[in-house]
Amino acid sequence: MCGIVAIVGREPVAPLIVDALKRLEYRGYDSAGVATIENGALDRRRAEGKLVNLVRRIESEPLAGTIGIGHTRWATHGVPNETNAHPHFSGDVAIVHNGIIENFASLREELVADGYAFSSQTDTETVAHLVAKHMKAGKGPVEAAHEALKRLEGAFAIALIFRNEPDLIVAARQGPPLAVGHGEGEMYLGSDAIALSPFTDTITYLEDGDWAVVRRAGVEIFDIDGNTVDRKSQKALSASFSADKGNYRHFMEKEIREQPEVISHALANHVDFTTNRLRPSTLPFNFKDLDRIAISACGTAYLSGLVGKYWFERYARLPVDIDIASEFRYREMPISKKSAAFFISQSGETADTLASLRYCKAAGIPIGAIVNVRDSTIARESDVVLPILAGPEVGVASTKAFTCQLAVLASLAIRAGVERGFLNEEDEKRLIAELAEAPRLATDVLKLDEQINEVARDLSQVDHVLYLGRDTSYPLALEGALKLKEISYIHAEGYAAGELKHGPIALIDESMPVVVIAPHDRIFDKSVSNMQEVAARGGRIILITDEKGKNASATETAETIVLPEVPEIICPIIYALPVQMLAYYTAVHMGTDVDQPRNLAKSVTVE
Ligand code: F6R
Repeated sequence: MCGIVAIVGREPVAPLIVDALKRLEYRGYDSAGVATIENGALDRRRAEGKLVNLVRRIESEPLAGTIGIGHTRWATHGVPNETNAHPHFSGDVAIVHNGIIENFASLREELVADGYAFSSQTDTETVAHLVAKHMKAGKGPVEAAHEALKRLEGAFAIALIFRNEPDLIVAARQGPPLAVGHGEGEMYLGSDAIALSPFTDTITYLEDGDWAVVRRAGVEIFDIDGNTVDRKSQKALSASFSADKGNYRHFMEKEIREQPEVISHALANHVDFTTNRLRPSTLPFNFKDLDRIAISACGTAYLSGLVGKYWFERYARLPVDIDIASEFRYREMPISKKSAAFFISQSGETADTLASLRYCKAAGIPIGAIVNVRDSTIARESDVVLPILAGPEVGVASTKAFTCQLAVLASLAIRAGVERGFLNEEDEKRLIAELAEAPRLATDVLKLDEQINEVARDLSQVDHVLYLGRDTSYPLALEGALKLKEISYIHAEGYAAGELKHGPIALIDESMPVVVIAPHDRIFDKSVSNMQEVAARGGRIILITDEKGKNASATETAETIVLPEVPEIICPIIYALPVQMLAYYTAVHMGTDVDQPRNLAKSVTVE
């Protein structure tokens, strides 16, 4: 959802800003831009599309100056073209912004009446004009920015520079994250610490409502009333980021293949494989004292939570309220005092998930964050952080974060079962021994790549795909459809297999492939009935199952992808891989931009 950078330094900053933007491109790639001040003049380069276009522009027309701001855009207001690209200027003011100014329309009207001409369709430009207006009325840049900030409604992280002030950046945070980086005679600002990792690992995170005056000598942070606030600097946890995809064609491919290793890291944080026992709990509560838990998240993270619901209810008899965060935050759910809430987020910055967290926090219940980015806002606002340890996920479509979220949730569900007395020591050891098999089985599944690639070749020719699954394979059916549509742009729908006859069966004909995810479990026969319903109507079945399932299905399939036999608890972790691979290879056959699919961004910091 847009990435912003600002640097006040000692050497020309444009190359440094571009370097930082490369690490933020996951937040949006509709356009990019950099502005600097040199010899008392503001100058900028902007380009539509990916950062590489901006890099070319700066190569042919370099930008000098030792202070500057940069932006990579995920379009909200105004089409993705160069005119709408940040930085925006008004008089002596230049701005970059991440988020949405909700009252921009009324501000714009007021500014137009005051004679300000708008050159873009963005909400951001209103802020530039507003600050310029206060400066024109005689206020200094810091005071003018503060006055303007008081008028803004919505969610924003902004950075401002001023033509006559080569040692001043004003920044503000209301919602989306903003990190201040401390250097030697240089200071930095970035949407996350990863952006600043080549320059510094000493970071101060602005909190909601903070604004800051950044100069080469350091930073001063204020609240909206202008009182100084004390925010401690810390060593960034995520500074070891490497944007290297090695020999892989795409980050997504690399991240799919990393799963055996990262799943084992995620599990080992919770369980001891030498004894097959749980490690001591880090939770601020005991599951036996709870009558229910709430889980909330978005997209793929929500789907891992949905698998978690099956696990908590099955192994711990603990009811789970699970919601898509954008619904949770507004549906006024009554919160039981005897409950706890878990929020799942790869980035730890998703706006709706954060809002849901704050709703539960206000109700006074303990909060756990299942996150990948350990110094993210969601992590920092939680009572306990359960890191998924997936390592940086760069591909916009989430893969390894999903299976690592599942690994953490499975461990938590076993803990809940033990603490609530539904699992004894023997059960605990058996289930953990089964979890321990996940990395090995995931490695075996990755070897099916050639077959899955061939299935994907056929899939790349169709317009619509249906995914079906039961039990924990139902969330996987939803995830398969989500993954396919986001990276291949093929329309896909996921359904609980039992729902087929309640509507979607009307879609089945020879041109409709149906991916059925069905390990040979206790309800396998039910899935067979659904496959027969599809086959009877000429639908093309692609079955993902195991050897037993293959032999028992007795249904004609267009293709069967046969996995090793997998213990029930890790089925969703292992079956996630062919589902991801099918989407990945289909997208590769179609030639789409796998790592940066159109219209998407990796960290959704607006509603
Ligand atoms: C899908 C995908 C998204 C994210 C969702 C939540 O492949 O990546 O659906 O899962 O935007 O993001 P996080 O986990 O960062 O909260």
